[in-house]
Amino acid sequence: MISLILARAQNGVIGLDNRLPWHLPEDLRIFKTLTLNKTIIMGRKTWESLPKRPLPQRHNVIITRQGNLGNDYNNNENIQFCTMDGASQMANGRDCFVIGGAEIYRQFVNICHTIYISQLQQSFDGTAFFDETLLAPFSKRAEKPFPNATIPFTLQFWQKKYTKTRIPEIFNQL
Ligand SMILES: NC(=O)c1ccc[n+]([C@@H]2O[C@H](COP(=O)([O-])OP(=O)(O)OC[C@H]3O[C@@H](n4cnc5c(N)ncnc54)[C@H](OP(=O)(O)O)[C@@H]3O)[C@@H](O)[C@H]2O)c1
Repeated sequence: MISLILARAQNGVIGLDNRLPWHLPEDLRIFKTLTLNKTIIMGRKTWESLPKRPLPQRHNVIITRQGNLGNDYNNNENIQFCTMDGASQMANGRDCFVIGGAEIYRQFVNICHTIYISQLQQSFDGTAFFDETLLAPFSKRAEKPFPNATIPFTLQFWQKKYTKTRIPEIFNQL
């Protein structure tokens, strides 16, 4: 099962100058709970934007066209650099989360099964976007409001139309 996971401003912004435009600890907690002990797939720019890397207790997969980037990490089994094809093959048949950024979401949205969105109720200036049209092949199956969060948001669970996966048990515990 391949899932996208993202936080998105009201105007579709997800990033600003290769960083998150906000600090939202309540969303980071949800991200950690969902992704812990899973494979996480990201673009090279998102990897470089992480304040601390790799993200611990997760298999970090980084997509790049630069074949030599992984050379410094050959001895770390939790870090793997690969091509888009390599990442798609690895994701097949495995529980994994695609964690961004914009370029990578756009390329995985066709093959993913579910999407977790923290939909912020505020707009932000930005340079990276997750366009609403990407959600056309999906339907929203569940949502949970966090009105008292640092920035109020709603956690949404989307599923590919005409498929039936159960809403994950963990969703209700978040
Ligand atoms: N709000 C959220 O939930 C969230 C989550 C994650 C990231 N973000 C934000 O999103 C922004 C980064 O997004 P981005 O779109 O600029 O970059 P990105 O998607 O993180 O990474 C783009 C890079 O991925 C590699 N790549 C992309 N397509 C590829 C392909 N088909 N084959 C091989 N490599 C490929 C390339 O790396 P090379 O140049 O090395 O070849 C490309 O430069 C940041 O602002 C970040 O903070 C937000």
